[in-house]
Amino acid sequence: MSIAEIGREATFGAGGSEPYAHALRREGRLQLVRDAGAVIDSYDLGRWMADADAVDRALLAAEAGPVLDIGCGPGRMVAAAVDLGFVALGVDVSRAAVKVARRAGLPVLARSVFDRLPREGHWKTALLIDGNIGIGGDPAALLARCAELLDRRGAVVVEAQSDDSVDDVFTASVRDDEGRTSSTFPWAEVGSEALTRHAHRAGLELDDVWRADGRVFCRLTPTRR
Ligand SMILES: C[S@@+](CC[C@H](N)C(=O)[O-])C[C@H]1O[C@@H](n2cnc3c(N)ncnc32)[C@H](O)[C@@H]1O
Repeated sequence: MSIAEIGREATFGAGGSEPYAHALRREGRLQLVRDAGAVIDSYDLGRWMADADAVDRALLAAEAGPVLDIGCGPGRMVAAAVDLGFVALGVDVSRAAVKVARRAGLPVLARSVFDRLPREGHWKTALLIDGNIGIGGDPAALLARCAELLDRRGAVVVEAQSDDSVDDVFTASVRDDEGRTSSTFPWAEVGSEALTRHAHRAGLELDDVWRADGRVFCRLTPTRR
C-alpha cells in the first residue's frame, strides 16, 4: 500500500465522521463493529494515551533495540521504549495520532507499515500490540512485511486474541460513544494457533507465547534455514 493509496483507502477508525481522531482528543471509548453490525471489541483511548503499564514495559524490557512500533497510535510503547534506552520509532497512518505523539516529543512517522521505512532489515524488535495484527486485514501479508523489516536475529511481538483458536478476517468500522462512525476497513483478529500458521507462511516461527494480565503475546522470529 503506498502513501497515496492510504489517502484513498480507509484504515482503522478513519473516514466517515472520524471517530478515532475525535476519541484521541477526548480520551473516549471506541467500539470495533463488524460488517454485520455486531460490536466485537471495545478500546479505551485513555489506556492508549496513558503511560505504558507494567505488562507493556515488561515485554519491551525482554527485547532488544532498535524497536519499531507498528500502528503506534499516540505512542505509549514508543515512549516506554525510549525510556528503557532503546532507539525506537513509531509508524502510524493516523495523522491525529501522530500529532499527539509528536507533541509529546516522540519519534514517529506518519506512514503506513507497507511504505518504505527507515532501517528496513535492521529492526531488532517490531511490535504489533493492541490488536494491530488486524492492520490491512491480511495477517500473513502483514507478518511477511514484518519479516522484511526485521534483522535476521530480530523478533516481532504480536498481541494475539485471548481465544487461541480465533482466525477471522472481516470488514469493520469504528464507532465512538457519541455515535460517530468511520468508513469501513479490512481488519483481522487472530489467536495464537492461527498466528503460528500465518507466521509460517511469512517466513517466521513461534519462539514463545505467554499470558499476562488477561493478554496473550506471541514472539515470532525468522525461520532458521
Ligand atoms: C487498534 S489501534 C492501536 C493503537 C495503538 N497501539 C496505541 O497504543 O494507541 C490500530 C492503529 O494502527 C494504525 N494503522 C492502521 N493501518 C495502519 C498501517 N497500514 N500502517 C501503520 N499504522 C496503521 C491506526 O491508525 C491505529 O492507530
